[in-house]
Amino acid sequence: MGKLSVKYLGMELKSPLIVSSSRLTSTPGYLKEAEDSGAGAVVLKSLFEEQINQYIHTIQPSHSYPEADDYTAYYVKSHSVDEYLTLIRKAKELISIPVIPSINCYTSEGWTDFARNIQDAGADALEINVFLLPTDRKKSSAETEKVYFELIEKLKKTISIPMAIKIGYRFSNILYMLDQFYMRKVNGVVMFNRFYEPDIDINHLDIVPASIFSHENERRMVLRWIGMASAQDIRIDISASTGVHSGADAIRYLLAGADSVQVCSVLYDKGIPFIKKMNSQIETWMDKNGFSAISDFKGKLNYRNYKKPMVFERTQFMKYFSSED
Ligand SMILES: Cc1cc2nc3c(=O)[nH]c(=O)nc-3n(C[C@H](O)[C@H](O)[C@H](O)COP(=O)(O)O)c2cc1C
Repeated sequence: MGKLSVKYLGMELKSPLIVSSSRLTSTPGYLKEAEDSGAGAVVLKSLFEEQINQYIHTIQPSHSYPEADDYTAYYVKSHSVDEYLTLIRKAKELISIPVIPSINCYTSEGWTDFARNIQDAGADALEINVFLLPTDRKKSSAETEKVYFELIEKLKKTISIPMAIKIGYRFSNILYMLDQFYMRKVNGVVMFNRFYEPDIDINHLDIVPASIFSHENERRMVLRWIGMASAQDIRIDISASTGVHSGADAIRYLLAGADSVQVCSVLYDKGIPFIKKMNSQIETWMDKNGFSAISDFKGKLNYRNYKKPMVFERTQFMKYFSSED
């Protein structure tokens, strides 16, 4: 076991740093570069639920409304699903670190049986990236949350490889959701995804995409929930995502209790080999602080272990300035 090794989803990773799902995990060349740079695992770019549903219809064409079939769209989409399965197989031949495919979804309808194809292609685990934007004002939070549970239950019946669920932070009660995931035997949770958000260009009076890349200061909200979640007495692995731009950022999430740390934006900026630098930053910090294994400090500053756990519950700045500080 190396100094940086960690356990995530029942697998041993040689580093806590995982290259998260994006274009940077979409080709065998990038995946090899990630392994050579010292990544602990890779999460492949996501396949979309819509692509899978199109694929299923292509191989089992619906005869009820043949005129509605758009052959070109079907071809393109089914082709990309086959390419995805080929990418998993190639990755498994080429690299020895765990390969975690990913599916973007927002319903539990239709596509879930396809997860077996991903397992059969050799995936070590599956990451499900769920994003449900509640836009129906007549639908309660509980109804929306039910979709997550149905989805998990279906997938758990379909596959036996470990499963992580990548979520956003817009839940009424994140810890309740984690508890529900745990009860349904989800192995890990990725906290959090960073979604497309609209912005406004005042010069052109137009809606434009907000920056797709994160900044270091986006860590703040993630840190709170990792610190709280890792202190619960349930065993669900936590992979931190958003705002990791250096080894120091990864250390912060590990101290808060993350089991692994995912990296994306900084690799677009500095290149995949930057992982090597981040690993060495973590090692240098460990040496300086007398830690010989990640487990020596993981969770040391979480809600359970920190001397003043109330800091995790603090929401108002008023308290920050009060005399008890
Ligand atoms: C260009 C780009 C493409 C992405 N594509 C996906 C994707 O297909 N699936 C997914 O789960 N996350 C995707 N993400 C989100 C990242 O995996 C990651 O969770 C997010 O960027 C936060 O991490 P970071 O702060 O290190 O960038 C993408 C991010 C970027 C910047």
